Amino acid sequence: MELYLDTADVAAVRRWSRILPLAGVTTNPSITAAGGQPLASLLPALREVLGPKARLFAQVMAKTETEMVREAFALRELDPDLVVKIPVCGEGLAAIKTLSANGVPTLGTAVYTPLQGWLAALAGADYVAPYVNRLDAQGGDGIATVQELQQLLALHVPGSQVLAASFRTPRQALDCLLAGCQSITLPLDVAEQMLSVPAVDAALAKFDQDWQRAFG
Ligand code: E4P
Repeated sequence: MELYLDTADVAAVRRWSRILPLAGVTTNPSITAAGGQPLASLLPALREVLGPKARLFAQVMAKTETEMVREAFALRELDPDLVVKIPVCGEGLAAIKTLSANGVPTLGTAVYTPLQGWLAALAGADYVAPYVNRLDAQGGDGIATVQELQQLLALHVPGSQVLAASFRTPRQALDCLLAGCQSITLPLDVAEQMLSVPAVDAALAKFDQDWQRAFG
């Protein structure tokens, strides 16, 4: 099981890595822009927090295969173990194919259908990221897409794995995990919601109260 945080907040990654064995951190252009720190300094900072074994992900902005491949190599100069996120469109598939043939690990991103994810896996993507909440938000079924994609990969491209992404609620993450998802990336607010269970605070307060009453 690989748990990732979907964030560019280095302090939060430090906090979470103290309490859980994070597999790494995923970013996308919007997340990185919101964090305000360019990848040139963000990636080394994340690497410093998480250590050499963590997987870091960053996405190319280029629109053609040639430019995507060039950008992928440039990004890997910032972090030699970076997994490069490539949008799954025609040019992106060509880039994934080329990068994979050159030993560069990739993640096919912006996946909205099981077949789109299967194409990315066929092209050589190590990871495929279905967008669970974005699918739900447009009236689709994010979890069903994850399930079908998992079946497709297990049957036909077992070397690729689903890294479920885009969550708004803990329930969506739970359903993915119950569907057998082996890799998941959580935005910070969803991860925080998993930890904040008011009944736990109440239970602990009552234990304290009872203990104090009995033993001072
Ligand atoms: C994953 O890496 C995706 O870019 C990300 O999870 C998308 O999340 P969003 O739909 O919350 O923007």
